[in-house]
Amino acid sequence: MPITYLADTREFHLNNAQVSYLLRVHDDGTLGHLTFGPALAPGRSYAHLVPRGFAGFANRVGDPVALEYPTTGSGDYRVAALEVELADGSGVLHLAYAGHRILAGKPVVPAGGGNLPVTYVEADEEADTLEVTLVDGPSGITVELGYTIFRDLPVVARSARIRNAGGATARLTAVMSATLDLPDARWELVQLSGTWAREAHITARTLRPGRQSVGSDRGASSHQHNPFVALRRPTTTEASGEAYGLSLVYSGNFIAEAEVDPFETTRVRIGISPNTFAWTLEPGAEFTTPEAILVYSDTGLGGMSDALHRLYRDRLARGTWRDRPRPVLINNWEATYFAFDEVKLLEIATSARDLGVELFVLDDGWFGARDDDTTSLGDWSVDQRKLPNGISGIASKVEALGLRFGLWIEPEMVSQRSRLFEAHPDWAVGVPGRPRTESRQQLVLDMSRPEVVDHLFGVLSEVLASASISYVKWDMNRTLTEPFSVGLPPDRQGEFFHRHILGVYDLYARLTTAFPEILFESCAGGGGRFDPGLLAFAPQAWTSDDTDAIERLRIQWGTSMAYPLSSMGAHVAAVPNHQTGRITPIDTRAAVAFFGVFGYELDPTTLAPSDRAAIAAQIAFYTAHRELLQRGRFVRLVSPFEGDGNRAAWMVVAPDASSAVVGFYQALNHPIPPADRLRLRGLDPERVYQVSGWPATGDPLFVENAGARGGDELMAVGLSLAAHGHEAGSWGDFRAWVFVLES
Ligand code: DGJ
Repeated sequence: MPITYLADTREFHLNNAQVSYLLRVHDDGTLGHLTFGPALAPGRSYAHLVPRGFAGFANRVGDPVALEYPTTGSGDYRVAALEVELADGSGVLHLAYAGHRILAGKPVVPAGGGNLPVTYVEADEEADTLEVTLVDGPSGITVELGYTIFRDLPVVARSARIRNAGGATARLTAVMSATLDLPDARWELVQLSGTWAREAHITARTLRPGRQSVGSDRGASSHQHNPFVALRRPTTTEASGEAYGLSLVYSGNFIAEAEVDPFETTRVRIGISPNTFAWTLEPGAEFTTPEAILVYSDTGLGGMSDALHRLYRDRLARGTWRDRPRPVLINNWEATYFAFDEVKLLEIATSARDLGVELFVLDDGWFGARDDDTTSLGDWSVDQRKLPNGISGIASKVEALGLRFGLWIEPEMVSQRSRLFEAHPDWAVGVPGRPRTESRQQLVLDMSRPEVVDHLFGVLSEVLASASISYVKWDMNRTLTEPFSVGLPPDRQGEFFHRHILGVYDLYARLTTAFPEILFESCAGGGGRFDPGLLAFAPQAWTSDDTDAIERLRIQWGTSMAYPLSSMGAHVAAVPNHQTGRITPIDTRAAVAFFGVFGYELDPTTLAPSDRAAIAAQIAFYTAHRELLQRGRFVRLVSPFEGDGNRAAWMVVAPDASSAVVGFYQALNHPIPPADRLRLRGLDPERVYQVSGWPATGDPLFVENAGARGGDELMAVGLSLAAHGHEAGSWGDFRAWVFVLES
């Protein structure tokens, strides 16, 4: 899996069995992009791929020249990778090649990046890295572009490090992690958009001349747009056709933007949002961007997602819980909200233990005097009224039941009614002399200030060391307003948002290092910060506060575009559902939540015996197939975003294709359903699979499909979805069918 350099033509070829990424130093020294796509033979020159007519800067004005790290002011009027204000007030840069290095493996941490999360390798054979240095002579601004190609993935990881090697201070106003120039514009931009309780809904639009973008300026990657976009051909499907995925390993403000120029070429860029960013670079100082992950797939969106899933599950997530089976948990939030005491919690835990639950999670309301959301954030000491024996008391009692114990925290927040706010009102983000906007009755702590992070590390380490705690749910329930830090001088306020998120990473790094055995799950009012940045610290995230099974089909389908099942918290909740009022069968709720990190969000002491029996059977099923469901290959089959959205299906296949679990879902029932079939994917055509239904019932679809079926048949013809005559009359709405395939 070499990276080769052809000195004659000054070409770099990053190549593995799946993709080639080619760049070239042009005659004027600029670093040009040749292609990123299917694997091409190494050793040959592809210099002729430079668009004809290009002859250096002289002819460049208006030309659609493909560049690796474009700047402004020299005739390329498309969106730039780097924008700088130099000491003389100008913003013109001419970045010219100055040298390169090719390294085996991937540098551990980009120097100057602090705790910026990045993908990694465990052995040098897994990847090669190219570093190209570009210099702007007059200013001394130096850019080091990093490209890592992974041996077994159609992926290139990119980042940029900007160094001020000149003698005068410069100000960065836009620094992208990557741009990608494509030779045509026949693409659709696919994005994951929504809001609270409706995250990661898929939206697609045809690229048009001009700029089209998604992003966040809220201080978090956000419920509204995920830091991920895909480009797909109009004919691309889940299983076939070309797609590019661009994903940013970052949790703060971002932009993902595509620009189509008059020549119908496309430039895509992804990085920190320039709307809320400026960074002062003193002589000698450096700035490192977050990492961007670029995927090329010619096996559809499915191939793109598969690459991202493997990379993020195996080489972004880290720590003791990366590969461990994740426990089935119960969380008391929807069971009690703030109204609980030790007795109630132990009743829930005991009842859940009897059903097979493995971990009990105590959610919000255990600290200060927090009977509602108006108070106590920041005061991380136990509320003795509710928990007279403290956290250690409840934790040891839960453990004595045979369960592990987990705890909710929301480190980055402060209530105005709290001891912390009384002692340190200036620690809350805001502009002195102006009112601060409250959201969910809380303010945000200024994580750009090291003393705030130090304080939080101190108090939270004490809490986590004070009891047997196996799991932490790290919540974050509001975005930032009045962005300003009293810790930064006026001319550096543009650095606030990025420094804030670096502070969050610092706290995550320190707590996960100090407590390596704790499983961390990130959360931000559900999926408000479900991004690759936090996955580097917390290998799973609460996907959405929407626990309705039918809503979750869309949310989990969308989230799976970029994120693996091992990262997606998915729970069975009570009905009527607390977000929609919908009443769905308990096995439908489980059939959706099985395709994620499984758990419960209800009060098991109030359930009918039939529901308790169902839950016991669900947990038995999930734990029996946990390895497959958490680490298998996820394949999307029928999209809830297509057609009338009434049906959806997906499956997960073992790495050796020896087994699979399929979920098929129908929202509303209609009489005499069409004689449809569900074609599966990813199976071994040579194998014969025993097909059975879960839970074992006499449902006509289970009867129809039970028995031995060839993998070839299941993929070419599919499972039957036809109920004969009036058989479907008893289904009712909101039904799910789970098929198990064992070879
Ligand atoms: C938002 C989370 O997403 C919920 O699961 C719950 O933890 C609440 N916050 C608690 O305030």
